[in-house]
This record gives sequence, structure tokens and C-alpha cells, in this order.
Amino acid sequence: MSQRTPSPPASGQSMWSFFREFLSNRQRVGAVAPTSVGVGRRMARLAHVPEARNVVEFGAGTGAITAPLLAALPADGRLFAYEIHEPFLDQLRTTFDDARLTLLGESAEAVRDLREREAPEGFDAIVCSIPFSLLPPPVTSGILGAGAAALKPGGIFVALQYHPTYLKPLLSQHFDSVRREVFPMNIPPALLLTAREPRGDR
Ligand SMILES: C[S@@+](CC[C@H](N)C(=O)[O-])C[C@H]1O[C@@H](n2cnc3c(N)ncnc32)[C@H](O)[C@@H]1O
Repeated sequence: MSQRTPSPPASGQSMWSFFREFLSNRQRVGAVAPTSVGVGRRMARLAHVPEARNVVEFGAGTGAITAPLLAALPADGRLFAYEIHEPFLDQLRTTFDDARLTLLGESAEAVRDLREREAPEGFDAIVCSIPFSLLPPPVTSGILGAGAAALKPGGIFVALQYHPTYLKPLLSQHFDSVRREVFPMNIPPALLLTAREPRGDR
């Protein structure tokens, strides 16, 4: 099995290309630079990726979180990564050569159908860095609802946000438990929300 997991692309060149994509589409890209590797590792731990079989990433960007997720994932695990920005998708295709990774160039709401195809029992975890506070509320609601419906009963949804208060009440509409922590070693400091007990379609 091919399993070459690179370090996250954090070179000056990739920082610059990320910033350029931010300038071309601020709302969708939502951050001026890729996430730090420390945040990615922390999200992998919060999502219990080392014990997971089927994990989904929402908003893979240039792979800053994808790389630590793959580093934490068991050899027989699978990671499905959604990314809608075509230049980032191209970059992901050339960066990662890992048979456990499936790249999906469509919006994260499609995870409902992915569950039917790939994991009828539900996914173990979803790790998300979509910039919800910049998106129309119905889009956020659609993605969170689909995420909750795609998780298995004990599944975990971990979200990275920079807005201090926006997402928690929206997550609480789809999950019975939501915890938050601040990760200060990131510029800007990152807010990590861990949601459990998905309500699914009930
Ligand atoms: C803040 S960036 C994070 C990128 C990367 N994960 C990181 O941490 O550096 C958010 C990413 O979410 C992607 N995105 C936005 N809306 C999306 C959607 N509906 N489905 C999938 N990806 C989406 C954007 O194109 C962008 O790459």
C-alpha cells in the first residue's frame, strides 16, 4: 500500500500561494495562511483518529490538517477529504500519495451520500476547518446537519474556528455535547470545538 505522508506544506512558497488564494476568494478560503501543524495534531487527538477506521475532513485546503490526520490514522484506516477550491484540490493531488486518502472535489454536504456508499455504520470522526462565520447561515446549517447525520452514534465532530462565539450555538442544534478550547500556539489563536452525541436526522 502506498503510504507516503509528507510534512504539511508550510514553506514560504505555499504560505504565499495560500494568501494569494485568500485574496481571490476570501469568503470561501477564510484564512490568510494554512493552519499550524500543532493545531492539526491537536485536532487529530480530539477526534481520536489513532483509534478510528473511517475519518472525514471538511475543507482540506492545502493539506495542513490532512498531513497530521494521516500521520495519526491507523494503517488500515481511511480518510475522505472534501475541498471545493480547485487550485487547492490540484495541490492536494500532487502533495499526497497515500492509498488511505480519498480526495473529494465537492461540497462537504455530500458526506450524507458518502456514508451510504462507504461507511453505512457511520463515520468515526469529522475534522472540519470550513470558515462558517463567513458563509450564509443556511450553508452552515446544511453542512453541520449532514455531518451529524453521517457520524456513527459515538462519532466526534471537531471544528477549527477563529470567530470566538459564532459556531457553538449552531453546533448545539445538531449535537448534544459541545466543548471548546483555545489553542494559543497558532496565528491567530485557534478555537477548537469538539461536538459529540450527534442527533443525526432525529
Ligand atoms: C480556513 S481554510 C482551511 C484550509 C486547511 N484545512 C488549513 O487548515 O490550512 C477553509 C477551507 O475550506 C474550504 N471550503 C469552504 N467551503 C467548503 C465546502 N462547502 N466544502 C468543502 N470545503 C470547503 C475552502 O476552500 C478552504 O480551503
